[in-house]
Amino acid sequence: MSIPVIAIDGPSASGKGTIAAIVAQRLGFHYLDSGAIYRVTAYAALQNKIDLADEPALVELAGRLDLRFDGAEVYLDGRPVGDAIRTEEAGRAASTIAVLPRLREALLARQRAFRQAPGLATDGRDMGTVVFPDAQVKVFLTASAEERANRRYKQLIEKGFCANFAQILQDLQERDARDAARSAAPLQHAPDAVLIDTTGMTIEAVVQAVLDLYSQAP
Ligand code: C5P
Repeated sequence: MSIPVIAIDGPSASGKGTIAAIVAQRLGFHYLDSGAIYRVTAYAALQNKIDLADEPALVELAGRLDLRFDGAEVYLDGRPVGDAIRTEEAGRAASTIAVLPRLREALLARQRAFRQAPGLATDGRDMGTVVFPDAQVKVFLTASAEERANRRYKQLIEKGFCANFAQILQDLQERDARDAARSAAPLQHAPDAVLIDTTGMTIEAVVQAVLDLYSQAP
């Protein structure tokens, strides 16, 4: 039997990161926030003054990035990047480089390396479609754009960032449109993924729904 994977995909701020992290904790699984890999790659590119459209330079950068994950913290060259990759600007930069197919390919092995016993819970845009197509559980998590913008707004305020609801809603819709329209691993509800619309659901109810799917998985 292959090492189990619970793959949770969905649009920005759908709560997939929160849910995947809790599910991982409950099952004693490893956790991969694949968006953080795109965010930190874009962050490193900006620091190295690499154009976000320069695919060969980004592929080369991806090959030599010194990345380490420890819980929710990401270390780049041994230093914690903290919330610098959690801003809306970092999200935009991540989704700009995420359209590049050769860069996505260059980041595949890093993501697959997280599949270790006893199992992995992960979230992103293409976890169930491209990175772990044989995942035992595939979920497509969504919520209305307003609810997602509201969640992101609260998250940013709690972290002490300035936030503007209308701007967040617009950014989120633009990012979703770019993620869904790109030809390389677009954000999509795969036919074999279970759709969970979390609008109005509590975190615990969503976690339970995912755990139920896992316990029923063949
Ligand atoms: O999930 P998060 O908002 O942190 O992801 C940031 C961006 O990284 C997304 O908007 C998307 O463009 C990209 N991404 C991706 N594939 C993934 C995870 C994230 O293209 N598996």
